[in-house]
Amino acid sequence: MAAPIDITSGDAALDAFLAGGYMQIRGMSSRFAAAICGHVIKRQSDIGIGGDILEIGTFEGRFFVAMAKLLQAGEHALGIDVFTWPSEKVYDHFVENCANHGLKPGSTTAWKVDTLKISAAELRAKLPAGRARFVHVDGEHNAECLRNDLELAHAVLHPDGVIALDDMLHPGYPTLIVTVIEYLNRHPEMRALCIVDRESITAAAKLLICRIESVPKYEQELMRFYAPFHYTLGADFLGHFTLVLTPDPTLPKID
Ligand SMILES: C[S@@+](CC[C@H](N)C(=O)[O-])C[C@H]1O[C@@H](n2cnc3c(N)ncnc32)[C@H](O)[C@@H]1O
Repeated sequence: MAAPIDITSGDAALDAFLAGGYMQIRGMSSRFAAAICGHVIKRQSDIGIGGDILEIGTFEGRFFVAMAKLLQAGEHALGIDVFTWPSEKVYDHFVENCANHGLKPGSTTAWKVDTLKISAAELRAKLPAGRARFVHVDGEHNAECLRNDLELAHAVLHPDGVIALDDMLHPGYPTLIVTVIEYLNRHPEMRALCIVDRESITAAAKLLICRIESVPKYEQELMRFYAPFHYTLGADFLGHFTLVLTPDPTLPKID
């Protein structure tokens, strides 16, 4: 196995979890992405953006526990999954992982439901703050589910909130980005804030999106804190120069 990438979130409790428990929980999200998303959530707390945290597609809770480590007093983390794959035991593992990795009792909820069967109003009612400041969308990887999950996330998003989309630009799901571009065209107030590149084929890339007015609240800070991972050529994303963070941003030497 490759040596872990030397990256931190800047939050001591989360960094301790990323160094130990994170990889012990079965799951698919990279430690690289968890650190960067954790830093985004920490940044929100630092500048007074409050609200709940939401994940669609928790599986056994690897990424959920990481995000929930950053909850502030009175905030809540809601995890949604059908909890049937690979067996019904995944629900028990999720609940055990939340408890065993130090999340405060009562600060999290597991909602066993198919997101195709819920409305935005039902989702909002499950969020004690009535809105989410950070949403990780990692449910079924097909166009119908992603379109639905994106609209649910959008409906409950804090005005300065961030949506993180999993497995973007993944060789195994090459057409998912079409659904994201359709969403961005439907919601021109939203922008691709940052591409968090993959660690491996399974610990794949995430795309962070937020409202255009919120970009300055995150972009410079991410560039500053993650300077060693900044791919300075960036990405042309629908006319916006989107920040790219990657485990190895080395460019070829051209004399
Ligand atoms: C790739 S896994 C999530 C991995 C997890 N977020 C992590 O980082 O370890 C995708 C999850 O989405 C769930 N899922 C798929 N379709 C769903 C739906 N329609 N509603 C709710 N959950 C769904 C699956 O049960 C599965 O646990």
